[in-house]
Amino acid sequence: MLNTVPRETIRWLVWFSILACPFAIPAEDKPSETKQSERGEPKPPVELTTQADHKRLLDLLGIKELRRGANGNDPKAPNAANYDESKVNPDLKLPDPLLLKSGDKVTTAEAWKTRRRPELIEDFDREIYGRVPKVTPSVKWKVTETSEQKVGDTPVVTKKLVGHVDNSAYPLITVDLQLTLTTPTDAKRPVPVILEFGFGGFGGRGFGPPGPRGPTWQEQLIAKGWGYAIIVPNSIQADNGAGLTRGIIGLCNQGQPRKVDDWGALRAWAWGASRALDYFETDKSVDPKRVGIEGLSRYGKAAIVTLAYDERFAIGFIASSGEGGAKLHRRNFGELVENVASSGEYHWMAGNFLKYAGPLTWDDLPVDSHELVALCAPRPVFISVGSQQVEGGWIDAKGMFLAGVGAGPVYKLLGQSDLGTAEFPPQETALIDGAIAFRQHNGGHTAGPNWPTFLQFADRYFQEPARKD
Ligand code: GCU
Repeated sequence: MLNTVPRETIRWLVWFSILACPFAIPAEDKPSETKQSERGEPKPPVELTTQADHKRLLDLLGIKELRRGANGNDPKAPNAANYDESKVNPDLKLPDPLLLKSGDKVTTAEAWKTRRRPELIEDFDREIYGRVPKVTPSVKWKVTETSEQKVGDTPVVTKKLVGHVDNSAYPLITVDLQLTLTTPTDAKRPVPVILEFGFGGFGGRGFGPPGPRGPTWQEQLIAKGWGYAIIVPNSIQADNGAGLTRGIIGLCNQGQPRKVDDWGALRAWAWGASRALDYFETDKSVDPKRVGIEGLSRYGKAAIVTLAYDERFAIGFIASSGEGGAKLHRRNFGELVENVASSGEYHWMAGNFLKYAGPLTWDDLPVDSHELVALCAPRPVFISVGSQQVEGGWIDAKGMFLAGVGAGPVYKLLGQSDLGTAEFPPQETALIDGAIAFRQHNGGHTAGPNWPTFLQFADRYFQEPARKD
């Protein structure tokens, strides 16, 4: 048989198998990773599935297993989410936001600012949301398109922008932040702007229908003579665990997976919002001292994180942020710490947060969300939620209200009024007289029906400065 195959073909086959078989190549000739880095070429980003990255963090933390989260879909499940106020843990004790680690209590605005606030920031950084690297790459904003149209009856200018993040230290990852800014064409001076984390295709998802139709939030803002901007969160950081070795987090880590106290997606999104504010500081149509942040659901969480950390943001509209946002971690109602620590959501948080879903519990958390609200002080913050009948209880309206109540002493210390009551108000009651505001609207999982009330609240802070002439 072999005799029938031409000699040339056999020679060719032998050479082919030598070349094609990696074992036939001497080790030092292989394009190995060491070789690559020796040549100064960066290693490609580590590819991990979400499950594998979640497991990797558990291993780093020495955790075998996490407790199961609450089941929000099946009321008959043994771990069904609690939606019954009478079954909430009665012994809920919150850490005192004014109590220093030394055991002393801060009694002055100065001590809050220089001593207590940094302590809280350190706890939130290390255990909850993760640390932003000390140095992050610079962002170069470029207007890629300018168009004129009308919003309602008002002529507006819309700028499309791309913020290119300097990736010269690791060119294998590109991050281009996407932002649009719309302001009234005929504005006489720089206008206030509300920046929204755009939800893109998301929405609804079993949380009931949105509220009644009326002017859109954009129409409402433009009618007031203000502007709006939308940032695309996924252009900053992907919304999943597998994406953590890419995006801004992956770029800063040169494609390596996170350490247990590295930032998660919420802080990454907040970082992107801060970069948008850097741009507003250079755009003459915007008054950078009157820029607010708004977001719904996971982006409601990102919005309160933005407001808490970046003191340049003047106001926040925090819609249905729930667990990981304004909801008290320690309250057994709706979504729990265990849900956010699970593989579907852990990427929002620091790796260390996983510890509190086993072996530790929410009582071991050094902080709770009333202290996140307190980090926004003295700036105005509006906590928004939908109706329990329509939106469902997953978000825990009362848990967010109580976080607002718990932040009260800090606002008062800084000379602002608090919520004015510790009693959960009936639906559609606007508590907007102090700097902490709360309203439960009658719609579903949307900020929609609360926009008019938020704007009424914001008016007090964003009124046109008195003219000097
Ligand atoms: C899930 C998640 C919430 C989150 C919401 C969303 O329901 O459990 O924490 O807020 O998704 O962002 O849509």
